[in-house]
Parts: sequence; structure tokens; C-alpha cells
Amino acid sequence: MKLLRAVVFLVASSATALAGEPAVSRYGKLSFRTTGNGSVTRATFFNPPINLVDKFVISDLLDFLRTLQPGPGKQTAKVVIFDSAINDWFLGHYDLHNIQLPFTDDKGAVFEQVVDCTRLMLNTTSTIFIAEINGRSLGIGQELSLHMDMRFAGPKALASSFEESIGLAAAAGGQAFLGPTIGKGRAMEYLLGAKGIDGPTGERLGLFNTYYSTAKKLKSEVSALAERISWFPQHSINDTKVTLSVLNPTTEELDAQLGRFLPLMFLPEEQATVSKFLELSGNQSESKFELDLPESSVKAARDGVYSYGY
Ligand SMILES: *[C@@H]1O[C@H](CO)[C@@H](O)[C@H](O)[C@H]1NC(C)=O
Ligand SMILES: *[C@@H]1O[C@H](CO)[C@@H](O)[C@H](O)[C@H]1NC(C)=O
Ligand SMILES: *[C@@H]1O[C@H](CO)[C@@H](O)[C@H](O)[C@H]1NC(C)=O
Ligand SMILES: *[C@@H]1O[C@H](CO)[C@@H](O)[C@H](O)[C@H]1NC(C)=O
Repeated sequence: MKLLRAVVFLVASSATALAGEPAVSRYGKLSFRTTGNGSVTRATFFNPPINLVDKFVISDLLDFLRTLQPGPGKQTAKVVIFDSAINDWFLGHYDLHNIQLPFTDDKGAVFEQVVDCTRLMLNTTSTIFIAEINGRSLGIGQELSLHMDMRFAGPKALASSFEESIGLAAAAGGQAFLGPTIGKGRAMEYLLGAKGIDGPTGERLGLFNTYYSTAKKLKSEVSALAERISWFPQHSINDTKVTLSVLNPTTEELDAQLGRFLPLMFLPEEQATVSKFLELSGNQSESKFELDLPESSVKAARDGVYSYGY
């Protein structure tokens, strides 16, 4: 049923795609539906069963973000809405195989592509990125949504940077952005506690602009906002994003964070924890452990199931 819906959607989107813009990305992990004469694009993640952020998702996201880089005589979307075709998942965590040793060139390349994706979300000031979140937004998925300009949530939204529980840190900007987004004390609470944030809580904290109690309302309100923005000239949109970018952490701060992450990732006890996580999660399948994140991981830490010590 889910698959059928996706197929119908892909067919529908190819009819409305801009010339030169793929209706479906190279690996099929993103599909695109464009409205408003190409000024609004809905980009939909599709990596069943848990929207794991693996090398294919990253590669497709990067390809797409590159098409939005402005150029002379080039028309780019004014607004991009990211949503998901997977029930209950907005965007999942990173494929942890990619941080297992040996850290091959292939894994290093994926890591660099992640960084490029986040940089492009920030420096493509002529396009506004909106996350329409009605499912789990975990780990790197949550970090990517924090790079977007706005987040709106539906009844199934659940955001968490749970990296702390597996002895890591939300290093792809997840820490640096959460502070300015919800305030330092609250960012500390949710990062250090590896806590989950549901829709109403996220709205109260300022993580989500607005919480809508139905998926339908979420989608219609986000679409309406995107359309409204798209009526205005791109140079105004661009100027507002440039101006408010002063609230972002600097590239130097983000790079420094990544520099601190690598040694953590390479610790022997961290490698053991990652292996344990892969085992507990049924190799990142639609397991009870995955469905119960972040609490399942916090419990594993509490019960000494992970191998890190004091
Ligand atoms: C699309 O462009 C045409 C011609 O420029 C214009 O008449 C029309 O209103 C536009 N439609 C939308 C939805 O922006
Ligand atoms: C934006 O970031 C990308 C990826 O790091 C980089 O290739 C590009 O040159 C940057 N563009 C601008 C305008 O800074
Ligand atoms: C966005 O603003 C920056 C900074 O003023 C400028 O360099 C860039 O050309 C603008 N881009 C567009 C598409 O207006
Ligand atoms: C886990 O899944 C990966 C693909 O994501 C696969 O390459 C690997 O063989 C699987 N490992 C086990 C133990 O099933």
C-alpha cells in the first residue's frame, strides 16, 4: 500500500518537474514535485523502512542541493519543502556502518558529502528550506532539519539528538544549532539527556514553528506558507536569509566540532558501542529498538549494555 502510494506520487511528480530537474533522484531516495512555476519544490525522502541516512540518501540530497546553487540566468526554487513518504519517519539516523573502522575512503567521502549538504543548506541563501516533520527526526536527520530555515510538526513528530547515549555527539551541527534555536539551557537538557521532543513540546521550545494536530493541516499550512513566500521576489527572500544567518554558528565553529568528533568516533569503546547498536537494532531494521529510540538507547546505556565505562 505504502509502495503503491509512492509509485503514484512519483508518476505525478514527473509530470510537473522543471526541465533539467530530476523528478526522482539518481538512487530514488528523493522525489520532487514542483509548483508555482518552479518556485516551490516539495522534496520527499523515501528510504524504507526507516529513512536511514545512508550513502544513497546523502548522495541524492547533495545532488539536489547543488542544483539550487544560483547561477547567471538560472531560475532556482524560492522555497523547498522537505517531507517524507515513509510513514512515521521524517528522517532517520546516520548509517552507523559509515563510522565503523576501518574508515575507508568510501566512508570518508560520505562524511564529506554530509558536511557539504549542511553547508549548502546554509549558504544557498536564495532558497528557503522548510522541514515538514510528521515522524521521527533522529540523529543526523534531526541535525539536517536544524540546518533548515523553519520546521513545522505534525502529530507523529519526534525529534531527538540521541548521540550522547551512544558515546558520541551531534557533531554535524546538531549541537551548535540547537543552542540558538531553543536556548542554551534547554539545548543542554535535550542533548545531554538524549531526550525526545514531540510536536507540542517542540512548539513550546521553539524547535518547531508550529505544531499541527493533523497531517492534513500540517501539509496544507506549510504549502500555503511556501506559496505565499513564492509570490515575493527572490532578492528579498535572499536578503532576509543572509541577514538572519548571523544567528547561525560560524563555519569555523562547525568545523571545530567535526574535528573533535573524529577522535571520539575512533575510540575502541565507541567502536564496540556502534557494533552493539547495530546488533540491538537488528542491523538498523524496523526493529523495536529503532522504533523506541531514543528511549531504547538510553536504557541500553543505563543497563550497561553498551561497553563504554565511566
Ligand atoms: C506562472 O507564470 C505565468 C507567466 O509568467 C503567470 O501568469 C502565472 O500567474 C504564474 N503562476 C504562478 C502560480 O505563479
Ligand atoms: C557553499 O557550500 C558548498 C559546499 O561546501 C561549496 O561548494 C560552495 O562553494 C559554497 N557556496 C558559497 C556561495 O559559499
Ligand atoms: C544574495 O545575497 C548575497 C549577499 O548580498 C549576494 O551576494 C547574492 O548575490 C544574493 N543572491 C541572490 C540570488 O540575490
Ligand atoms: C547489515 O546490513 C548491511 C547493509 O546495510 C549489510 O551489508 C550487512 O551485511 C548486514 N549485516 C548483518 C550482520 O546482517
